[in-house]
Amino acid sequence: MAKLAHAQWSSRMTFVLAAAGSAVGLGNIWKFPYMVGESGGAAFVFVYLLCIALIGLPILVSEWLLGRRGQKNPASTMSELARTAKKPRAWAIVGISGIVGAFLILSFYSVIGGWSLYYTVNSVSGAFSGQDADGIGALFNGMLSNPGLLLLGHSVFMLLVIGIVARGVTKGLEGAVRILMPVLALLLVVLIGYGMTTGHFGEALTYMFNPDWSKLTAETVLAALGHAFFTLSLGMGIMMAYGSYLGKEIDLLQTARTVIIMDTVIALGAGLAIFPIVFANSLDVASGPGLIFVTLPLAFGNMGGGTILGLMFFLLLTFAALTSAISLLEPVVEFIEERTPLSRVMATVVAGVGAWLLGIAALLSFNVWSEPLLFELGVFDLLDTLTSKIMLPLTGLGAILFTAWCLERSSVEDELGLSATGKSVWNIIARYIAPAGVIAVFVTGLI
Ligand code: TRP
Repeated sequence: MAKLAHAQWSSRMTFVLAAAGSAVGLGNIWKFPYMVGESGGAAFVFVYLLCIALIGLPILVSEWLLGRRGQKNPASTMSELARTAKKPRAWAIVGISGIVGAFLILSFYSVIGGWSLYYTVNSVSGAFSGQDADGIGALFNGMLSNPGLLLLGHSVFMLLVIGIVARGVTKGLEGAVRILMPVLALLLVVLIGYGMTTGHFGEALTYMFNPDWSKLTAETVLAALGHAFFTLSLGMGIMMAYGSYLGKEIDLLQTARTVIIMDTVIALGAGLAIFPIVFANSLDVASGPGLIFVTLPLAFGNMGGGTILGLMFFLLLTFAALTSAISLLEPVVEFIEERTPLSRVMATVVAGVGAWLLGIAALLSFNVWSEPLLFELGVFDLLDTLTSKIMLPLTGLGAILFTAWCLERSSVEDELGLSATGKSVWNIIARYIAPAGVIAVFVTGLI
């Protein structure tokens, strides 16, 4: 996209679709439910929603606003804006750390993309039909303990991402997002309907929405904060990059609200689809990253039309993962392209193969290399923790601090088209609440 420095999104709708394509992905359907399960349910959901509204929303708006003003890649945008505002050029670190983080996330994201591909194949071959919880569990564990299989899935997924980004056709995907996102939502509705027939839907509702505050620890609050960033694609300069193609007339607050509602509805829908199956089969809510892969296939294997629904679901999940993964590779490629003599294709191959190699270390940590590497974590968990719990919040914090404290206040207020009350609310949230929230959670969660 770098070559189109002054291009703009053709309409607000295209922009919303691109942003939603990045935001809605494995984070919503794979990660959110298992984090809810690991963190004890509703209390986590509640904190997560609070983080989305009070921290995610203002940071999303800030990133778009910075991108729209800077009109460059995140690193150059930040140093340029800092120069104009007569602030230290060191602000460029916000952009650079975003690029490094995107690369790190892509490496393990692609491994899970590979799982989704493998499950797409499994649904066609009828591997789920008539299976009980043990059978489905064995299928999942069989995959995890097989490095060759994981490598195959990871490689095919990464090849798809590299192929799409190298050809620069990422913008062509918005049309597909427009159709496929509603289909994905519809499939979740069907699965929620199935959950209602299990007799455990009420239990799932209570689990997700009736908080037991004793379950809340500093650790789970940090997890909720980190996930709010992850799910909205914040803190990696991606939304900043998207903002650089945004026309002046687009209402940032309203657009952010639309994207956030879509993202949150899909995540909550995934939870509501999964937990009734967990309870109906006495599965472990805290089973971790395998949760959707040991629950949903049970539903598909035991419901009418399950084969075709399963196939559609995992295809759509793979597609949602692809549109997010593309948004992770794109900024890295843009950066390499602008800073080195490499062509777009070469830059894509270098970045993609680099992330692929790191991904191999991540997938081995599920089997042959499962001993902890650092802080009692294996490579996969280490990459996830480093990005979600440290880099995303800190980089996002940089973006909002810069917007709220370094840019001229009145021009930001004008740009957001705020009323008098709107201005005070924005200033309180953007200057104090959101940054203080990030810092407080970050400090308490890490010590
Ligand atoms: N938001 C995506 C998801 O929920 C993942 C993702 C894409 C992401 N781009 C990102 C996360 C940038 C953090 C930063 O699956």
